[in-house]
Amino acid sequence: MGLAPRGAGCASAANPRLPGAGRLKYADIDNAVKRIKLKLAPGVETEFVDRDRALGQVVEWAEKSTRFPVVVFGPEGCGKSAFLRQAAEALGEFGFDVVYVDAAHRDFVAYTDVAEVARRLFDAASDVSGLAQLKLAYLAVDLVKELIGRWGRRRVAVLVDEVFQAVGLDKAGIYVKSLLNLIEYPPRSYERIVAVAATSEGVSRSEIGRHRWAELTPMWNMPREGFQQLYEKLPGPKPPFEEVWRLAGGNPGMLSRLYLTGWNSGAVVTWLIREKGLTPDFIARWRGWLERVVEDPEALWSPDAPEELIRQLVERNLILYNIYEREQIFWVDQPPPERDPELGVGRDVAWQTPLHREAVRRVLEAV
Ligand SMILES: Nc1ncnc2c1ncn2[C@@H]1O[C@H](COP(=O)(O)OP(=O)(O)OP(=O)(O)O)[C@@H](O)[C@H]1O
Ligand SMILES: [Mg+2]
Repeated sequence: MGLAPRGAGCASAANPRLPGAGRLKYADIDNAVKRIKLKLAPGVETEFVDRDRALGQVVEWAEKSTRFPVVVFGPEGCGKSAFLRQAAEALGEFGFDVVYVDAAHRDFVAYTDVAEVARRLFDAASDVSGLAQLKLAYLAVDLVKELIGRWGRRRVAVLVDEVFQAVGLDKAGIYVKSLLNLIEYPPRSYERIVAVAATSEGVSRSEIGRHRWAELTPMWNMPREGFQQLYEKLPGPKPPFEEVWRLAGGNPGMLSRLYLTGWNSGAVVTWLIREKGLTPDFIARWRGWLERVVEDPEALWSPDAPEELIRQLVERNLILYNIYEREQIFWVDQPPPERDPELGVGRDVAWQTPLHREAVRRVLEAV
């Protein structure tokens, strides 16, 4: 848990490292943005790799503002938090005052020379009364409001990670509305504003989707080349890349787990079975359907697929349901392929990773 105000003053609106984002194009990304350091596993640090298109989208947000809060959702471990942190760094470099909060991990980064911002985030994160997560979630919005209203900052960004669990899933919609209010009714005029939230909660998507307050934007696992770059960074003997790709399907979180278990995919599957509550009674109840779904997730798209099963699979973060059209404009970074039976990707429904599918398959065989 990094409670230190790590980013305070890294780059500020008063002292931007770049004159502005206006002229940046995708091709310039590599030169323009410093890639942050991330921990892939204990003792393994890497730079933020690949995701060039996603970074290009950050440039677009910096140029135009986000008209609605962008809510990024996608498979667990696909790299949403890494992306948000990298976006915070990029926006800081573009001269934005940035508040990034990871409520679930009581972590934050502030890029601003208003010292009070980091101090208040630090206080909230250090709260011992059990309210730290809730306080951080709301403080992020309040601070950005103050950066505009009280401190007269004209380029601001608020990036919030895993806040919906903190405020309560039933209030996810209202929380997003508060971000929208910031965009539409700021306490003072501003030049640019960027508001992005990330969530791995499958269910928060439906709560937010009920309103028209957000731009729900999915993010998929990493494309093959980027994933291979990450794989290369892991030290020691490892299985061939092809095998790892077929297990993790480009998911860096799963890559990390595989590495940590000494590439023991069986152990990762066991861990998933436990974590996802794949109990014999759950499996017995849905056996017929699950047998079809491990063969082809698209089976769940049929009109007679039980809603209850779909809800349970979404809630457990096993599948992504109702996947968007594969047009770049609807996605953060590259969309998944239209279909990839080997990885468990269907047109409208996909397993989050092949290992998720494997967990269900193993229990089906055992029970
Ligand atoms: N582009 C990237 N470059 C380098 N490392 C990455 C990248 N994307 C993700 N990682 C690493 O992969 C792991 C999982 O990523 P991350 O935590 O960002 O996923 P997530 O989608 O936020 O997961 P969750 O759903 O659990 O919140 C982390 O260790 C992260 O540092
Ligand atoms: Mg995350």
